[in-house]
This record gives sequence, structure tokens and C-alpha cells, in this order.
Amino acid sequence: MIETVSSLDALRARVVEWKRAGLTIGFVPTMGNLHAGHHSLAKLAREHADRVVASVFVNPTQFGPNEDFARYPRTPETDAVGLQASGCDALWLPSVETMYPYGAEHAVRMRVPGVTDTLEGAHRPGHFDGVATVVARLFNQVQPDVAVFGRKDYQQLAVIRYLVRDLAFPIEIVAAETKREADGLAMSSRNQYLSAEERPVAALIHRTLLAMRDGIVAGESRAAVERNAASHLRDAGFDVDYAVVRTPELAEPEEASPPGSRVALIAARLGRTRLIDNMEFDAS
Ligand code: PAJ
Repeated sequence: MIETVSSLDALRARVVEWKRAGLTIGFVPTMGNLHAGHHSLAKLAREHADRVVASVFVNPTQFGPNEDFARYPRTPETDAVGLQASGCDALWLPSVETMYPYGAEHAVRMRVPGVTDTLEGAHRPGHFDGVATVVARLFNQVQPDVAVFGRKDYQQLAVIRYLVRDLAFPIEIVAAETKREADGLAMSSRNQYLSAEERPVAALIHRTLLAMRDGIVAGESRAAVERNAASHLRDAGFDVDYAVVRTPELAEPEEASPPGSRVALIAARLGRTRLIDNMEFDAS
């Protein structure tokens, strides 16, 4: 049976017990309303560790003032059932007060400059500070040996890797492939905001990423590929934040540089729903 834990003392007691028994701990941080993507992370964690903890916490510090914190879907009972089926041993389900007991006086904030200056970081000021802060706190609470993050949030994964590297967290970060619906739409808790009319249109994001990859591999200029992608999306009714091709480190590739590993990234709004997705590929 999966154990749902909401007090830090209870979580620590369980973690200490496992560590004393020589068991390794895998960790999957989430904001809940879990779908098959999240469950694939839990299953991957299971392959890397003896015990698996998943957290469900809708983190207020990573939402901007005009974002969807209040309406973000919260389904902890269903999440617990799904996590049990995916092989999780414990669900860490803290309240906002447990996660941030010092409220606004919470003194330490994480910031990962550089990688967060662009794309999501530029469009959602403060977002990655909130992510890095809560993930650092979660790491100290759960003390995992391995933590699993999805490639769907490409820039977030980069932020977490820097966090672990620079603060010397003794944690191995494992990246999980993006799970998609049959038409290619990346699974996301936010997909349920889409109306019946918007839902099929949303799959255009994935098709556009494929077209961006094909364009670059065929030798088209990056500027043309990005322009075409954005205009396709706009024609279909999207409000486009970005549709770009970057190096794996999220730098703008030099036009003269030899082709190599690339990532195409899109963030776009369809009605009230903001969607992000990406595709990694080799352009050489
Ligand atoms: P959340 O959006 O719930 O995502 C939790 C984890 O699931 C992240 O690592 C994310 O990349 C991964 N994920 C989401 N959709 C996926 C998909 N379709 N396929 C594979 N993996 C997917 O990301 C967050 O929560 C938060 O920022 C968090 C890290 C928990 C900090 O609050």
C-alpha cells in the first residue's frame, strides 16, 4: 500500500528507516493531477532505486501573479491510486504551510542565472527561482539518491542539473522521455483546460517541432525555420511566445558553426491554455 505522508517528521522517519536498512531512494517531484507522463517517471525511478517517493505540491512560488495557480487541477486521491499502481512507496503531500512555514519571510531563494535568462525564464519572470527553491527544499526533505525529471520541461531539467552540480547535492538526475497522446500532443495537466475545438489544434505544436527539425536537417536557415514555425502556429490561432532552435545548452547556434545536437522549443497559448514542448535532434 502506498503511504501518504503530510508531516515532515513522518516523512523523515520513513526515509531514515529506509536508509538504515541500506535501501536507496528514488524521487519524482510533481504538482499532481498525474497523467501517464508522470507515471512513466515513477516507473523509471523504480528501476533506479529500492524505494520510490513521489511528491504532489502545487508550488505557489513558481506561478506568476496572472498565472493559473488558483485553478491548477488538484486531484490528490486519484494521484495516490495511480502512484501506487506505478510502484511508488510513499506520496509526500505537504500543505503550503508545511512547505513554506516561514511564509513571506522565507529568506533563502534559489536563482540559477544564465540558463534562466531566456525562453521560459524570460516569459515567466521568477518562475525558475520558484522551481529551484522548491526542488532544493524537496531534495533536503526526501534525501533521494536518484531523482527523475521529464524532458518535456527541457529548460527546467537544465536548471535542476545546475542546482545539483553547484550545490553538490549527492543526487543522480535521470531524464525521462516525453509521453505523448496519439496525435503527438505532449501530455500535460494543463491539456484539460483546452476546449473540444482547441484540443485537435493543440497537436500542431508537435507537428511544427517535427517540421522545424526536418527543415534544419535539410539545411534550411535557422531564421527561416523559426519564422515559418511561428507563422504556421499563428495562422492556426496560437499566440506564440517562442518557436526557436537552440544548442543543447539553450544558446543560439552560430550560423557558421558546424551542425550538431540541437533542440527545437515552442511555447504558445491557445485560448487560455499555455503549452510548451520541445524536440531534441541531431542536425549533422
Ligand atoms: P509537473 O508539471 O507536475 O511535472 C512533474 C514532472 O513530470 C516534471 O519532471 C515534468 O517534466 C514531467 N512531465 C510532465 N509532463 C510530462 C510528459 N508528457 N512526459 C514525461 N514527463 C512529463 O514540473 C513540475 O511539475 C514542477 O515544476 C516541479 C518540478 C514539481 C517543481 O514544483
